[in-house]
Amino acid sequence: MTNFTGLNPDTMRFNTRKWVRPEDLNANQTLFGGALLSWIGEEAVLYSLIQLENKKVVMKYMSEINFMSTAKQGDIVEIGMEVVKFGQSSLVLKCEARNKMTHETLLTVDQIIVVNLGSDGKPKAHGKTKVEYVSERLGGTD
Ligand SMILES: CC(C)(COP(=O)(O)OP(=O)(O)OC[C@H]1O[C@@H](n2cnc3c(N)ncnc32)[C@H](O)[C@@H]1OP(=O)(O)O)[C@@H](O)C(=O)NCCC(=O)NCCS
Repeated sequence: MTNFTGLNPDTMRFNTRKWVRPEDLNANQTLFGGALLSWIGEEAVLYSLIQLENKKVVMKYMSEINFMSTAKQGDIVEIGMEVVKFGQSSLVLKCEARNKMTHETLLTVDQIIVVNLGSDGKPKAHGKTKVEYVSERLGGTD
């Protein structure tokens, strides 16, 4: 089932929360888009390196960004990632940032492409085909 943003709340994982601080605001006293994009960039790379089990991953491409609403100082923003596709060396993600308390969508990005690199800094096949959870890799049940 998808919500009104077209994203699937069942498969999108909101792993990261951010607190909107004074230094994150723009001249309109709302959340600066650049701050939000920086948080998303970090989350996309972190999500990818955990999935691909490789610390050498880089963001290659980000599609159109749709800022739908904003946040203000003191709000809690959560950032969700969902795998669209496992490529050979790439991982294609989609992203939503939303207000933690109201679930109002702040932003959606349809495609973020992260590339898995070898020790030579060139694209390298990651061999992954499905989403994995660290707890499963460690043999846990949750
Ligand atoms: C990432 C980088 C190593 C890729 O090099 P490249 O020569 O473009 O690599 P390739 O053409 O072999 O593409 C690698 C993968 O990315 C995908 N890709 C590359 N450009 C893409 C684009 N514009 N849109 C979608 N996918 C793209 C390819 O389809 C390929 O995926 P696959 O292996 O799953 O089939 C290189 O572009 C780079 O170092 N860029 C800078 C990255 C960086 O520093 N990012 C931080 C932000 S400043």
